[in-house]
Amino acid sequence: MAQELTDRVIVITGASSGIGAATAFAAARAGLHVVLHGRDTARLASVADGVRAAGRTAVTVAGDVAAPGESGRLLDAAEAALGQFDVVFANAGYGFRRAMHETSDAELRRIFDVNFFAAVDLLQQAARRLIAAARPGHLLMCSSALALFPLIRFSAYSATKAAQHHVCRAMALELRPHRIAVSSVHPIMTRTGFADRAAAESGRPLDAARAYDDVPALLLQDPDRVARAVLRCLRRPRPEVWTSRLPRLAAAAMALVPRLLDVVAVRG
Ligand SMILES: NC(=O)c1ccc[n+]([C@@H]2O[C@H](COP(=O)([O-])OP(=O)(O)OC[C@H]3O[C@@H](n4cnc5c(N)ncnc54)[C@H](OP(=O)(O)O)[C@@H]3O)[C@@H](O)[C@H]2O)c1
Repeated sequence: MAQELTDRVIVITGASSGIGAATAFAAARAGLHVVLHGRDTARLASVADGVRAAGRTAVTVAGDVAAPGESGRLLDAAEAALGQFDVVFANAGYGFRRAMHETSDAELRRIFDVNFFAAVDLLQQAARRLIAAARPGHLLMCSSALALFPLIRFSAYSATKAAQHHVCRAMALELRPHRIAVSSVHPIMTRTGFADRAAAESGRPLDAARAYDDVPALLLQDPDRVARAVLRCLRRPRPEVWTSRLPRLAAAAMALVPRLLDVVAVRG
């Protein structure tokens, strides 16, 4: 049976841009109230305006997802402003282009802190609160198509996305008795601020207008497509959200013939 979303509350990290912002707008159009988290307060405010224009409440919370106590502060803010939360989408994340042997310990730990540990912390804390209140809910993480195979020179990033996928699959089973759904979201390459940030993090600034010039159309999508897939998953929960069949077909082929990855290794 499809879930009723009207007047539910969704908490979204990484809501100031890209997939998070698109999901906030789609959620508001579907009737949810939205709690938006990010660091860029100006962009958060502009996304909040869009949510309010759709007739829904928007609450903004600014901060770094990896700061100590941030998950608790975010969920406290949602409960204080809206009384509760029903859906949590741990979406904040970034990548950088660097071979593993060139990646410093600090870079590796930072990307795991932001992409993996902060997302896990948020879902753990949300689950504990929902269980204590005996309320159902839906928890999601934005993983990636790269959860299934690494992209060369994005090895650290790919590893965080694989780890997210694994945790979500386990949490989905662990939380089922509590009527809490858990889903991992696996976008292919998406037109967002991601490429720009990855270029900056890698010390090679990008011509944003040409960032996707070399990417085949089949491998590229807009964030609205991911947002629509997330909303479909909220209506009919399932453990994994794929926005394209291609990565799963590629992963199946690579599972049968592991050396296929060596042959078709995507340019990083
Ligand atoms: N774009 C792609 O091709 C693609 C493909 C697969 C998966 N994904 C995943 O999709 C998710 C969203 O990325 P996007 O593509 O929408 O990129 P984006 O436009 O760069 O958005 C990233 C969001 O994450 C937030 N963020 C990053 N680090 C943060 C931190 N330390 N603390 C708080 N917020 C932080 C940013 O907020 P501020 O700027 O306000 O700090 C921004 O709102 C990420 O998890 C990414 O790995 C992206």
